[in-house]
Amino acid sequence: MDAADVVAKSKHCIVFTGAGVSAESGVPTFRGAGGLWERYRPEELATPEAFAKDPELVWRWYRWRQEVVHRAAPNPAHYAIAELEALGVVKAVITQNVDGLHQRAGSRNVVELHGSLWRARCVKCGAVYRLEKPVEEVPPRCPRCGGLLRPDVVWFGEPLPQEAWARAVEHAAEADVVLVAGTSGVVYPAAYIPHIAKKHGAVVVEVNVEESAITPIADFFLRGRAGEVLPRLAEEVKKRLSTRRESSPRGPSAIGSSQP
Ligand code: OAD
Repeated sequence: MDAADVVAKSKHCIVFTGAGVSAESGVPTFRGAGGLWERYRPEELATPEAFAKDPELVWRWYRWRQEVVHRAAPNPAHYAIAELEALGVVKAVITQNVDGLHQRAGSRNVVELHGSLWRARCVKCGAVYRLEKPVEEVPPRCPRCGGLLRPDVVWFGEPLPQEAWARAVEHAAEADVVLVAGTSGVVYPAAYIPHIAKKHGAVVVEVNVEESAITPIADFFLRGRAGEVLPRLAEEVKKRLSTRRESSPRGPSAIGSSQP
């Protein structure tokens, strides 16, 4: 059995994604050559302390990231994942990405573990605002109470959003296949997701341009760019699904009628 068979035969396939899935959309990853953490220091930009010290600097960085994503479009990796969900194969996309590109590609059941660039939250009254485009003024202020707004993302040292984490763990425990794509798998607790799935018996299929911290538990390692490998995988899965339908033309009712 190959990876496409495993995915096509799955009952509860989930996808776990990281920055590598958006790389071909022109959104920089965090680690490795050209990664954001090579050029910027996370402790100066992505911690509650950094925000308390210099909210304007932090917002400038997030505004720049919003602008990059606003100009970007989903790539074939995002579309392939959305297609697998539309086919009924993928039940949930659990992402560490904050760019919203899965949703823009048509994925419906997306669990955002690290929040979203497209929401801001008031540090004073807790109100959450949806953003349609990059913020203009930095730092933005709460229209209700005048408090400081912060990006509704998870920073280092902060817990994950409880509801998203609970949903992700539930899916991981139920999954029989987890398709891991474009993540280094080094940031916890998010990186527990494929491990939890594996522990509950899921087959781990990994797509990455290079080996990652997840590779040791991967049953299938599909080396290559997510934007190339995932559309090929989705095509194969579609073929397997239609072959299975053709080779078993009689549904449950036909089985019933063949009884004496
Ligand atoms: P990383 O930047 O750590 O890892 C990106 C992964 O994508 C690497 O394993 C690359 O080999 C792989 N990759 C790059 N281009 C690819 C492509 N075209 N196709 C397939 N794979 C590709 O990103 P994440 O694992 O998402 O957290 O990082 C996890 C978290 O660390 C992020 O959510 C962020 C960051 O700090 C927060 O901000 C809280």
